[in-house]
Amino acid sequence: MTRTVYYTATSLDGFIATTDHSLDWLLSRDTDSAGPMGYDGFITGIGALAMGATTYLWVREHDPDWLPEKPAWVFTHRDLTPPPGADLRFTAEDPSRVHAAMVEAAAGRDVWVVGGGDLAGQFADRGLLDEVVVAIAPVTLGAGAPLLPRRVELALQEVVRNGDLACARYTVQRPPSPA
Ligand SMILES: NC(=O)c1ccc[n+]([C@@H]2O[C@H](COP(=O)([O-])OP(=O)(O)OC[C@H]3O[C@@H](n4cnc5c(N)ncnc54)[C@H](OP(=O)(O)O)[C@@H]3O)[C@@H](O)[C@H]2O)c1
Repeated sequence: MTRTVYYTATSLDGFIATTDHSLDWLLSRDTDSAGPMGYDGFITGIGALAMGATTYLWVREHDPDWLPEKPAWVFTHRDLTPPPGADLRFTAEDPSRVHAAMVEAAAGRDVWVVGGGDLAGQFADRGLLDEVVVAIAPVTLGAGAPLLPRRVELALQEVVRNGDLACARYTVQRPPSPA
């Protein structure tokens, strides 16, 4: 069954980028993408992904040749043009509707919410977020783009070390449905 997973790296104090959208605090760390909870194993289980406009534009700026490996949805109110050949669409539809399309495209694989944190929160608000997987870098930033600016109850399922990072997988706890 498809799970919707927010998989990201964070500072110890809960920021996924600095205030000026730098990832220098993360990209300088020793990590193994083929190691425990690493990207290589994660992406093989993913069938579709979603991200917000800031994340998309950051990736395009830093890696202009980047194309998503899976069908991708980018949330924005701006009139952006997808790169040629990309299986990518821009949307301002409600995340519930986009989620249904993503699950269909994923064909049994999982859905990756890349970020940012508020977009992950919008999926959580709708009861559509199943897991949060974080790789915690050994740094505090004091300010920046927040990891998940909501109250979301989680249950810890797994903890491993990957190089400099402490990686943890949580399932989202949903309130019991009314009888
Ligand atoms: N540490 C990591 O592993 C990691 C992972 C992911 C991202 N990041 C970084 O974290 C930062 C995240 O930036 P951010 O907090 O600004 O979040 P973001 O989700 O990347 O971008 C926010 C933008 O997404 C659009 N958006 C969000 N929800 C929408 C909706 N329901 N409908 C339509 N548009 C919607 C809006 O764009 P418009 O203004 O166009 O409407 C909004 O301004 C970036 O610097 C990114 O590079 C880090």
